[in-house]
Amino acid sequence: MSKVSYITPDGSDVVVENAEGNLMKIAVDNQVDGIDGDCGGVCSCATCHIKIDAAWTEKVGPASETENDLLELEDDVDESSRLGCQVEMTEALDGLVVHVVGR
Ligand code: FES
Repeated sequence: MSKVSYITPDGSDVVVENAEGNLMKIAVDNQVDGIDGDCGGVCSCATCHIKIDAAWTEKVGPASETENDLLELEDDVDESSRLGCQVEMTEALDGLVVHVVGR
């Protein structure tokens, strides 16, 4: 099973073992501060903005066009930015580290 770490803006590290589903849902289910998932994961709110740790960006892959359109409206966006609801946790991502942007 896969493990994911969320580094929150205050520097806390929330580790979720046996993570399944997308990175927004996993965060909400585990009370990770700074990820709200207001739209329920349909790529229309950007309250799930995260940054993929540099060591993982290649494995996770780039954002889709729809995702980028929404991210462009956000502050503090860079090439590691993704919407958590659009990143599905897989066995290949076991050990993944993401940074919560928060609002
Ligand atoms: S939860 Fe709304 S865009 Fe991800």
